[in-house]
Amino acid sequence: MLSIWEDVTQIEKQTYELSILRQVGQALQRTLNLPELLHLILTSITAGCALGFSRAMVFLIDPEKNVLEGKVGVGPMSEEEARAVWNEISKDHANLEAFLEKYGTNIPHEESSFGKMVQNVKIPLTEENNVLVKTIREKKPFKIDNAWENPLVPKDFEETFQEDSFVTVPLSAKGRVIGIIVADNKYSEFPIEDDRVELLMLFANQAALAIENAEAYKKLEDKVAQLNEAFERLQEAQDRLLRSERLAVIGKMAAHVAHEIRNPLTAIGGFARRILEHPDDTRKVKQGAEIISKEVNRLEKMLANVLNFTKIARPFKKSRDIHRIIDEVIQLHDPLFKDHKITIDKSYSQDLPEILVDEDQMRQVFTNIFTNSIYSMTKGGKILITTGLDDAYAIIDIQDTGIGMPEEVIENMFNPFYTNRQGGTGLGMAVTQKIIQEHEGKVEVISEVEKGTIFRIYLPLKNQEKNLTKIPEATPQSA
Ligand SMILES: Nc1ncnc2c1ncn2[C@@H]1O[C@H](COP(=O)(O)OP(=O)(O)OP(=O)(O)O)[C@@H](O)[C@H]1O
Ligand SMILES: [Mg+2]
Repeated sequence: MLSIWEDVTQIEKQTYELSILRQVGQALQRTLNLPELLHLILTSITAGCALGFSRAMVFLIDPEKNVLEGKVGVGPMSEEEARAVWNEISKDHANLEAFLEKYGTNIPHEESSFGKMVQNVKIPLTEENNVLVKTIREKKPFKIDNAWENPLVPKDFEETFQEDSFVTVPLSAKGRVIGIIVADNKYSEFPIEDDRVELLMLFANQAALAIENAEAYKKLEDKVAQLNEAFERLQEAQDRLLRSERLAVIGKMAAHVAHEIRNPLTAIGGFARRILEHPDDTRKVKQGAEIISKEVNRLEKMLANVLNFTKIARPFKKSRDIHRIIDEVIQLHDPLFKDHKITIDKSYSQDLPEILVDEDQMRQVFTNIFTNSIYSMTKGGKILITTGLDDAYAIIDIQDTGIGMPEEVIENMFNPFYTNRQGGTGLGMAVTQKIIQEHEGKVEVISEVEKGTIFRIYLPLKNQEKNLTKIPEATPQSA
């Protein structure tokens, strides 16, 4: 196999070397998988049609442990094995490209005995007199002959690998040494020629770059895997949270409904019994029937509220003039406003275009807000409605001069069943928030005790519908 080298002239030899480097370089680009790459590198070094060493091994530096670790070894374990391999290889693959195609990245299923031996080697980088460490420190190749007598070769290394002569070359990428290659001619017994060492050096530079790339890629892959895992965990946590939130809402709702039902039911039961006991006492029957009817009304109202909350449908949106909707709700509440000595002021923006809303749901929103404002202004007051717009949203402010809210109420007012009002279900604001969110908008509250409250509603403008990039900055309390 090596006879080729002796026959060719210098020029032909150089051309041949360059062609080998080119072919191996191309082959090295074939994989970013580190074990595959290391195997490919060593296969190139031991290929008769390439560098033609008998055995080769790669050691890489573990910077954390400060040791040089054996990674891969390619080569036969005995002379017979060597001969068998060479025979097979020389038979069907004279050409390097085809050879690497067949043997390059095909890592054997089971690690060879030689590979296992290599993987057992760990050399502390502090062993300065070890030729392997010296190769790294001095960033140059060493050719060792008569290894048995050479003080740079540790005895145990020699006993393990039984090499009489071998060569070490640094694997250096961008000026940094990341490991070494050790190659020998065990079994073939050919001397290691200087030009072969040079070629191995050139090859090692290519290999080091490829190894560094593969390691960087592996790190990137690990990072991506970590990120994916973190993302999955986050999603699971979010699902759990949503589930528990839903359960908490249902639990609260059940407790609230049970509590609210108990009083009317007791009253109904009591008065029904009284009617049964005194069926002829028309006064008692009438009084009982009135109370029963009032309590049943209360129950019906509560039931309607709870049902309303649990089945807010997806909005059925149409292009609408929001001012008209507000005006109609105001008109509907006119008698109530008058009763409570409440005046309405409006400051509508002329620039506000039609927006996409579910008209019924928006009526519900304004009704809920007006109702709350009315309850908050027991001695009369004013409601000011201001509309405007920014780049992406129509903005509607509804301001009252009522009792306002302390921090604790602001924090809880959107929670279902949170109420401070006798007879309130605490669903008005929860429903309002849900509707606005379904419209891809948001609702904020600005409130000061004894001064009043502003509800600020953002609803997406029509042309912004599909690409809402800018959600306005949150002010005190936002939904
Ligand atoms: N404009 C406001 N001024 C002062 N407090 C308010 C105002 N709006 C809401 N609140 C407070 O927030 C609480 C929750 O309001 P929400 O509308 O959700 O329930 P509610 O009015 O109590 O009951 P309902 O379900 O009948 O509307 C109120 O009980 C009240 O304490
Ligand atoms: Mg309310």
